[in-house]
Amino acid sequence: LIATCGLALMAGAAAADPAGCDGEEVKVKFSHVTNSDKHPKGIAAALFAERVNAEMDGKMCVEVYPNSTLYDDDAVLEAMLQGDVQLAAPSLSKFETFTKVFQIYDLPFMFKNIEAVDEFQASEAGTAMKASMERRGLSGLEFWHNGMKQFSASKPLISPEDAKGLKFRVQPSDVLVAMIEQLGASAQPMAFSEVYGALQTGVVDGQENSWANIYGQKFFEVQDGVTETNHGVLDYLVVASIDWLDSLDPEMRDQMLTILHEVTEERNAAVNEVDMAARQAVIDAGTEVRELDDAQRQAWVDAMKPVWEQFAEGVGQENIDAVQAINE
Ligand code: LMR
Repeated sequence: LIATCGLALMAGAAAADPAGCDGEEVKVKFSHVTNSDKHPKGIAAALFAERVNAEMDGKMCVEVYPNSTLYDDDAVLEAMLQGDVQLAAPSLSKFETFTKVFQIYDLPFMFKNIEAVDEFQASEAGTAMKASMERRGLSGLEFWHNGMKQFSASKPLISPEDAKGLKFRVQPSDVLVAMIEQLGASAQPMAFSEVYGALQTGVVDGQENSWANIYGQKFFEVQDGVTETNHGVLDYLVVASIDWLDSLDPEMRDQMLTILHEVTEERNAAVNEVDMAARQAVIDAGTEVRELDDAQRQAWVDAMKPVWEQFAEGVGQENIDAVQAINE
């Protein structure tokens, strides 16, 4: 009975339907903004729900609300503090009003690849960041990966000069705004659910995102092409409110957190596969994907990397050094 509730939502059933959870169970709403299948976060959230609903049947029931059907990322954390939603996994760029420590993840060309992200997160400094919002009532539970970010626009982007004068949608992050301005372009922070329409109507000219999001949101349909810059990372933090975690029976909470941890390890280990499948799907859809040679890519590094200086003090030079040592 219960095992179906996460899956029903995954299949796109009415998001408002509290299907399957019975009155005795602790109901857990997991809100996120991406699609469910062929997406690192969607797959992980669905697997977490499936496992909790099978293994904790009668005690706890998870309902996943994907595709911003419950909250946009700019509203979900406040809703969580109000007790209206229990779990979410916003990207690390979305926590800026709660903590600045995740700004390091938005600095362009900071991490060589997702393996470097994983290694930094496993370090003492990386792990400690999960606790950075405790004074604001939020507990960081697990980091979930997505992939490296690429640029797309309404015209071909080969050199950074091509971006001059264009308007790019970014996530709400001062670092990302500064990074775009570094290109002589302008940045428009905007909710994820609005990006496709904004690209289609020309409210913005371009955007930067992972392959899974470019595919999942069909951005490729309304862009000239995608340039494979791998200039940034898109990574998530699964969060819950401390009040809610404290309200749970300790044994039940531990079982849920163990499942979450196992799902994290399993899905993070498989993330490159999902990322590459999304890249291929974008190509198969007929999209022009522009690869850069070393010199072309270096021009983007030279154009964007100076933005580090503006944020080095805030993110900590020691953290920057630690990441660079991992990259080597
Ligand atoms: C975005 O807003 O572009 C991403 O954070 C969406 C997501 O959750 O992957």
